[in-house]
Amino acid sequence: MKKVGLLGCGNVGHIIAGRCDGFVVTAVYDVDTKRAQEVADLCGATVYPDFDGFMESDADIIVEAASVAAVREYAQAVLSKGKDIIVLSVGALADDALRNDIEDLATRTGRRVYIPSGAIVGLDGLKTGDFAKITRVVLRTTKSPASLGIATDTRMLVFKGTAVDCIREFPKNINVAVAIELASGVKADVELWVDPAATQNIHELIYEGEFGEVTITVRNNPSPDNPATSYLAALSILTLLRNIDRPLQIGT
Ligand SMILES: NC(=O)c1ccc[n+]([C@@H]2O[C@H](COP(=O)([O-])OP(=O)(O)OC[C@H]3O[C@@H](n4cnc5c(N)ncnc54)[C@H](O)[C@@H]3O)[C@@H](O)[C@H]2O)c1
Repeated sequence: MKKVGLLGCGNVGHIIAGRCDGFVVTAVYDVDTKRAQEVADLCGATVYPDFDGFMESDADIIVEAASVAAVREYAQAVLSKGKDIIVLSVGALADDALRNDIEDLATRTGRRVYIPSGAIVGLDGLKTGDFAKITRVVLRTTKSPASLGIATDTRMLVFKGTAVDCIREFPKNINVAVAIELASGVKADVELWVDPAATQNIHELIYEGEFGEVTITVRNNPSPDNPATSYLAALSILTLLRNIDRPLQIGT
């Protein structure tokens, strides 16, 4: 059974700890020790008050569900300790230099860095771009004012541009844009809308290529404790952890 260490015990961390199936959470770390203790109480894990101690735990895979800053600060230390890592705050990997360093280190240490689907679907098709060119990728995301921390009573376009620039402006909200670009190898046209009528986090993903075209609309229910986070993101990690070592692998 995989031994999981949770780096970040917020909304996603709580959901993972409460739904261990096919893996066990043995270690947790969060700058907020109260949140870490809540998560430990859910799953019987050990709370580590500091990151160095957390790295000495018996966890063989770390789930980062903390922040873009935490990926920058800790991802390489995790790999150097001989542990695999699942990176949910994938926006951090929009930084080419950081991503290349992490990938090189994973190669040298023989470890794996997993980027879960998170709050989007359709990464499988985008990955085929390695073999048949993807020519156009558009992501149109709509969120509520509470989710984006923007006060408005009308629907408004708050960002239009590249994924890199969008994650710089909205580091807690648009990780999916970076996952999409990494999967396709193509710069996406990203639009972020705020809408007071939105009760869900909506991602419209359109891509075209030699294979044909895809149009997907994902209407994500927000997590009850954090409107910025879609429930699907936590579910994608649970699914990844459950299937990671299975002999029968489904999908690309
Ligand atoms: N890839 C995706 O599709 C996707 C979807 C949803 C959320 N996310 C990202 O996943 C992360 C977790 O989401 P959440 O809803 O659980 O957030 P949250 O704010 O509810 O919880 C994050 C927790 O991590 C802790 N934390 C933050 N930085 C830390 C650090 N440097 N060291 C230790 N602890 C730290 C915080 O104290 C907090 O308890 C966020 O970065 C979010 O943007 C990605």
